[in-house]
Amino acid sequence: MALLPIKIHPDPVLRVKCATVETFDGDLKRLAEDKIQTMNAAPGVGLAACQVGHEIRLAIVDPSAGEDPTALHVLVNPEIVEDRGRVIDDEGCLSIPGITEKVARPTYVKIEAQNLEGETFVLEGEELMARVICHEVDHLNGVLFIDRLAGLRKERVKRKMKRMARDQEAVG
Ligand code: NI
Repeated sequence: MALLPIKIHPDPVLRVKCATVETFDGDLKRLAEDKIQTMNAAPGVGLAACQVGHEIRLAIVDPSAGEDPTALHVLVNPEIVEDRGRVIDDEGCLSIPGITEKVARPTYVKIEAQNLEGETFVLEGEELMARVICHEVDHLNGVLFIDRLAGLRKERVKRKMKRMARDQEAVG
């Protein structure tokens, strides 16, 4: 297993619409293992393959951040098939360090996905799990949470990211 470097916004790989996984082999399993380790080390509650440079529809979700093994799910080719409700809460992203903003998400989602063997399963999530699933499915479509901010929030985040980039340059 290996820790993988996490791609940081505005890396163009974060804007790619990722390809459907068609081959369920040992390489896919190894990538999933590495991603789990990388997510836990971060630590994070979700990680999409594009965030470590692989443009495929594979994501890991674990709203327990490594505390509860039953909360960990590997999602291959996930599709949201049902969603309900709306809740606004704080959200961040390992690829956009230092930014946390309120984002509206469904309170409930139901997805269909495949596991690492290529078998289809259904997963339901509420509250944080629903949020993490939506965030990761967005990643697979090249969408970032900052895209979902409304008006003033979006402007504020843009300014903050510019400032952070400038500070980085100043440091070297
Ligand atoms: Ni993210």
